[in-house]
Amino acid sequence: MTSNSQAAKKLYIKSYGCQMNVYDAERMSDVLRPLGYGLVDTPDDADLVILNTCHIREKAAEKVYSELGRLKFRKSDRKAAGKQMILAVGGCVAQAEGEEIIRRAPYVDMVFGPQTYHKLPEMIARAHRGTGNVLETDFPADSKFDHLPAPEVREGYSAFLTVQEGCDKFCTFCVVPYTRGAEYSRAVDDVLAEARRLAASGARELTLLGQNVNNYHGLIAGGGEWGLGRLIEEVAGIVGVDRIRYTTSYPAEVDDQLIAAHKNVPELMPFLHLPVQSGSDRVLQGMNRRHGADDYRRLVDRLKVARPDIALSSDFIVGFPGETDRDFQDTLDLIDEIGFVQAYSFKYSPRPGTPAAVHELQVPEDIKSERLKVLQDMLNVQQRAFNDDCVGRRFDVLLDRPGRHDGQLIGRSPYMQAVHVEIGPEKLGEIVDLEIVSAHGNSLGARLATAENTEGEIMETRATG
Ligand code: SAH
Ligand code: F3S
Repeated sequence: MTSNSQAAKKLYIKSYGCQMNVYDAERMSDVLRPLGYGLVDTPDDADLVILNTCHIREKAAEKVYSELGRLKFRKSDRKAAGKQMILAVGGCVAQAEGEEIIRRAPYVDMVFGPQTYHKLPEMIARAHRGTGNVLETDFPADSKFDHLPAPEVREGYSAFLTVQEGCDKFCTFCVVPYTRGAEYSRAVDDVLAEARRLAASGARELTLLGQNVNNYHGLIAGGGEWGLGRLIEEVAGIVGVDRIRYTTSYPAEVDDQLIAAHKNVPELMPFLHLPVQSGSDRVLQGMNRRHGADDYRRLVDRLKVARPDIALSSDFIVGFPGETDRDFQDTLDLIDEIGFVQAYSFKYSPRPGTPAAVHELQVPEDIKSERLKVLQDMLNVQQRAFNDDCVGRRFDVLLDRPGRHDGQLIGRSPYMQAVHVEIGPEKLGEIVDLEIVSAHGNSLGARLATAENTEGEIMETRATG
């Protein structure tokens, strides 16, 4: 987010967790701008501090309390200097723990869930009045999207756009259905209007967001609904939109139209984050995932037929209650077979209120750690091999930020790898044909593709993994 230290009041937002929180933080700042709040980069001198929190794993939630401990002192320093600092906790910890936050950290002024931030001006007015802590964790009957101002035109070549929110899948390990509420899709016209505004302000890449984004079913004017595949086709037709991504998908809900979009829409990047969680049918069943390991294999095959150069990333949980060595081996086998170019993996973390948290067969911590290490070593080898394999290939790279030193820019390959290149600043915001010359664990080095290094080199459609 761009900061604005000239504004009358200083707003500091710290986001944890998923990309949806990044999007939410931008919208919170949109809501607060008319009240004179401008974003700043540190909480030190802020009039309003919002921690936009994540509750997905225990560690994520605990981070909030340590940050609050630090902010308490800043708040009292400001008070001693005769100034106020409103301290607010938003996001999923706020939704899940509400009153508990006020009990553990009574100096917090406001606690509000992810579905209520359109009411921020009203909450701030109440906090100013100083009539006790403000707690807003209801799921309002009306959608917050109907009350939010149009997003501010922002500089940025790659932008997030929330199209769907909430989740009704109730995976037995997951808090999202409780913190984000029921599935909700924004109307097609609203999404398209926001996509056009973002494109007009210079965004060339749009990432459509949702907890279950591929279960998007947005109403269209005049009746009927569109799924995600159809929406992507339409977004691709917007002038200025050169690249589209979407995240996060639920495997059991990838439909034919979405697969067809991967075949027919060149703007849709050949990279898909498709969380499988485990390779064991027994564990997947315990997780209530609604897909088996072979369903996942078949789905990947169909995606590869539609788009041969597609590469996959995934999420994994190790040590889900009842997971045996055999189950874990099934996960390793699946990874070995599919080949992931990137992945996020976690030790199972019991979350209060979820069914798996009270399962009798919790896996001991040391076994979880061992399994995580084995799994991550394997995934790292796959990622590294994919990156190494990219050397010599040519990619269109969207150069979206300055590099560490003058004369360098950084961008994203179609496969989301960070690509560094020595190139003039005038190329910022352009999609440039680059030849990959070096590979590292998490990034690639490149040079401008020239006529000499062009011969017979276009291998972008090679199948991966
Ligand atoms: N909607 C997405 C995921 C949302 S949460 C999906 O369909 O999978 C992001 C990731 O966090 C999950 O994919 C899962 O791998 C991990 N996660 C969620 N709850 C967890 C828990 N209790 N313990 C460990 N990891 C968890
Ligand atoms: Fe969570 Fe499963 Fe939904 S992981 S977000 S309950 S699809």
